[in-house]
Amino acid sequence: MRLKNKVAIITGAGSGQGRAAALIFSREGARIAVSDWKPELGDETVTLVKKAGGEAIFIRTDVSESADVQNLVRTTVSTYGRIDILYNNAGVGFSSPLSMSDVINTPEADWDRVIAINLRSMYLTAKYGIPEMIKSGGGSIINTASIAALIGSEAAHAYTAAKGGMVALSRALAVEFGPKNIRVNCICPGAIDTPMIAPVVDPLKKSGQPFMTSPIRRLGMPEDIANCALYLASDESSFMTGATLVVDGGYIAQ
Ligand SMILES: NC(=O)c1ccc[n+]([C@@H]2O[C@H](COP(=O)([O-])OP(=O)(O)OC[C@H]3O[C@@H](n4cnc5c(N)ncnc54)[C@H](O)[C@@H]3O)[C@@H](O)[C@H]2O)c1
Repeated sequence: MRLKNKVAIITGAGSGQGRAAALIFSREGARIAVSDWKPELGDETVTLVKKAGGEAIFIRTDVSESADVQNLVRTTVSTYGRIDILYNNAGVGFSSPLSMSDVINTPEADWDRVIAINLRSMYLTAKYGIPEMIKSGGGSIINTASIAALIGSEAAHAYTAAKGGMVALSRALAVEFGPKNIRVNCICPGAIDTPMIAPVVDPLKKSGQPFMTSPIRRLGMPEDIANCALYLASDESSFMTGATLVVDGGYIAQ
């Protein structure tokens, strides 16, 4: 098993890529702290992990709230004794249309909220999680940004800024905490078939139109990202830090 005896926090594990990672990490031997702000989704992931023979707890967390993140870290350590893997996966995007607009049309409150959920969350989990990871002898931090961090687009400006910040902060944390045996890497997914992009993709599916056509000619699946995260979480990637991995079916290579 590739994650035997490891303890993983996965934020946004109630849905999509986070849920897929919870199931895959647990199959590989990790105990999972399932973090999400929606209890019904988080509980469902815990049930799925347990049904498959794994071990998980749900910890309700709004990742943009300091008190919630501190509770996430505290409860994980008091339950499982350590943190080896911190997977910052929670995020908001296409499901909130105005916040995915250009700077002129994005309400100020939406801008702040998107930055808080996607980027401030990474600061908070690092601030409170890294000291515990150092106590455990190190570990792996995985951050989910987006190809929006690497290419310009006509809209989604707050999201793009937040994800760009995640890529930059991942590198900085990798440099700062490498000597403490903490690795920090970033995944930039392309279009992945999850509830996040359903409001945009579902109408296109109905009319038989493609969305963001990539050389691989399909949408990514949550498992495509979770398997990349598994590699970054495992000791197989022990010489890898500060890296940005693009997993997009070749979309930005075009
Ligand atoms: N789906 C895509 O096409 C795509 C592309 C690039 C990047 N991403 C990124 O991938 C990550 C995972 O998204 P997904 O595609 O699985 O979407 P999803 O909507 O299926 O899952 C996101 C999860 O995060 C949770 N969440 C949202 N805000 C939260 C908060 N403040 N606190 C705690 N939990 C919160 C949601 O409840 C949900 O369970 C996100 O960071 C997203 O930005 C997605």
